[in-house]
Amino acid sequence: MYQTEFSYKGRVMRIATMLMLMVCLAPFKAIANDLDRELQHYIQQFKYKAIEAPKGANQNKYILGKRLFFDNNLSGNKNVSCSTCHDPNKASGDALPLPVGVTAKTIVPRNSPALFNLDHPELKFMFWDGRLSYDSVGDVYTTPSAVLNGDYPERMDITEALGSALAAQAIFPIISHDEMRGAKGTNPVADADTDEQAWKLLIDRILAIDEYKELFRKAYPDADQFNIGHLGNALAEFQRLEFASYNTPWDRYIRGDLNALSSSEKRGAIVFNTVGRCTTCHTGSLLGGIEFANVASPQVGPGKDIHHNDEGRFYVTNRERDRYQFRTPPLRNVALTAPYFHSGVYKSLSDVIEHYTKGVDAVDSYDSSWLSLLENNTYGVRLFVETNPYRLFRKKEDAHNLLKHRMIRLSAQQKSDLLKFLETSLTDPKFK
Ligand code: HEC
Ligand code: HEC
Repeated sequence: MYQTEFSYKGRVMRIATMLMLMVCLAPFKAIANDLDRELQHYIQQFKYKAIEAPKGANQNKYILGKRLFFDNNLSGNKNVSCSTCHDPNKASGDALPLPVGVTAKTIVPRNSPALFNLDHPELKFMFWDGRLSYDSVGDVYTTPSAVLNGDYPERMDITEALGSALAAQAIFPIISHDEMRGAKGTNPVADADTDEQAWKLLIDRILAIDEYKELFRKAYPDADQFNIGHLGNALAEFQRLEFASYNTPWDRYIRGDLNALSSSEKRGAIVFNTVGRCTTCHTGSLLGGIEFANVASPQVGPGKDIHHNDEGRFYVTNRERDRYQFRTPPLRNVALTAPYFHSGVYKSLSDVIEHYTKGVDAVDSYDSSWLSLLENNTYGVRLFVETNPYRLFRKKEDAHNLLKHRMIRLSAQQKSDLLKFLETSLTDPKFK
């Protein structure tokens, strides 16, 4: 009796649960499929590929590069290393709007970028203004130092040791007075007349350390002599392996794991590729690194000229249309690399999304009050904030049409889905 009643009740319960599940899950499943179909359409259309794990690691170069990356000896006054501004514990940035310079009270004019996947073949330009690039087909560099550039560079011994844009990049922070070289009059590297002399002094300083002699010999057993190019090459090998990010939920989704993203993230990815218009500029597998654009970003800090202005790509090309353009940043792990934009003006990704929906009005309504805590504690000075109406006008006039005509319009739901995509889908658990 008890038995029958129990099993009868049980059966009713089971049928009821099944019915409920069917009612609940049926439309859910259909939506998920529609979302996947739509998203996969965009993945194909925009040719997004998952990032691949790095190949062909050279352990000896990695060990040397790692040692160099954390070594203060690379800076003129032996007081900072690459890791000061690219701290692996801060997602390879410094978590500041702008880095604190090596000389007392200087502030570096641009935000310290993250170092993820910078050896990716689609990434054509280094730095916020793309002033360094490398054509691997012709083995030709374009850099701020003439002796490395062109088909027959004067210092071919250096370029031959480099081998990539990332390696060439690494030999520039060490000769930047703000970043590592130090102020003139404070050390011999800072006082060197040319880039080449500064590089020579630095490599000699490093090779005078016994431990390094051994590490260089192991990393480059075929070289008769070591130059600054080898140092750049080793730093690049370390960075490419250490900051390789290829397992974000977005990468897993592209590789075919449809459950890697939640429905909200999938909707956010669709917003990114449709109404958000993000993919107009954040193109390619890295979701950036290829295009330049003027998105009318507010300007904070010392800037690049006497007016504290930063005209970005214009300084490199001298073309009017490049004024205020910056390289569109790649977006892997962007949730971990606040603050944002070339002068670090936004503290959060929702602020960035608000910027895009306001269009060029964002520069007029920029709220810099969040910086005051840092001004007191980190910089010890007030940061310049651009409010000159003429320069703001110029920047707005030159801005990309999507911003100039306020064409990015998003509902609250779309904003929150887009934020989920940026925050969750693009974050690699390895770097959290
Ligand atoms: C004082 C802070 C500071 C130090 C020290 C420093 N960097 Fe940077 N790094 C920056 C800033 C700021 C930029 C962006 C400059 C620009 O674009 O004009 C940058 C840019 C880069 C980039 C280009 C990233 C990209 O997406 O194009 C790489 C790579 C890099 N640094 C690696 C290094 C290495 C390697 C070292 C040590 C040899 C180093 N940095 C030392 C602040 C620093
Ligand atoms: C017109 C081209 C363009 C469009 C459209 C665009 N971006 Fe950008 N994005 C850029 C450029 C250029 C920068 C760097 C601007 C600067 O530093 O002044 C940037 C910076 C960013 C940053 C900051 C990254 C960092 O490391 O500082 C994020 C996040 C971002 N964009 C997300 C988006 C999203 C989300 C959308 C769509 C709603 C979008 N972008 C649309 C060109 C664009």
